[in-house]
Parts: sequence; structure tokens; C-alpha cells
Amino acid sequence: MSVVLIGNRRGGVGKTTIVINMATKLLEKGYRVLLDRGDCCVYKR
Ligand SMILES: Nc1ncnc2c1ncn2[C@@H]1O[C@H](COP(=O)(O)OP(=O)(O)O)[C@@H](O)[C@H]1O
Ligand SMILES: [Mg+2]
Repeated sequence: MSVVLIGNRRGGVGKTTIVINMATKLLEKGYRVLLDRGDCCVYKR
């Protein structure tokens, strides 16, 4: 199993686009893919 993290604290820099395109390609190649989303702001105090 591999874990890939796409992270940046800024919005609108292409994180979601990268994740969706990467997941689509991996699925096409026969990999099983689990997407998880972490929001930095949840942990802000
Ligand atoms: N490589 C790119 N070239 C041009 N526009 C892009 C590229 N990657 C993302 N975008 C556009 O930038 C905007 C923000 O992308 P998004 O993936 O939602 O960013 P984030 O998830 O970091 O907030 C969207 O309108 C998306 O279509
Ligand atoms: Mg996003």
C-alpha cells in the first residue's frame, strides 16, 4: 500500500484537481484508491 499526501495551506492552488486526476489514472490502471480529506482548519485553535 502507498500513501500519497497532497497538501498546501493555501486554497485554490490545485490540490483537489491533482487528487482527482491522480485517482482517476490510478483507477484506470487497476489500483484500488481511497481518498481521504484532512482540513487544517479543523485543528486550528
Ligand atoms: N494546472 C492547472 N492549470 C490551470 N488551472 C488549474 C490547474 N489546477 C487547478 N486549476 C484550477 O484552479 C482552481 C482551483 O483548483 P482546486 O483544485 O479546486 O484547488 P484547491 O483544491 O487547492 O483549492 C480550479 O478552478 C481549477 O480548475
Ligand atoms: Mg480543494
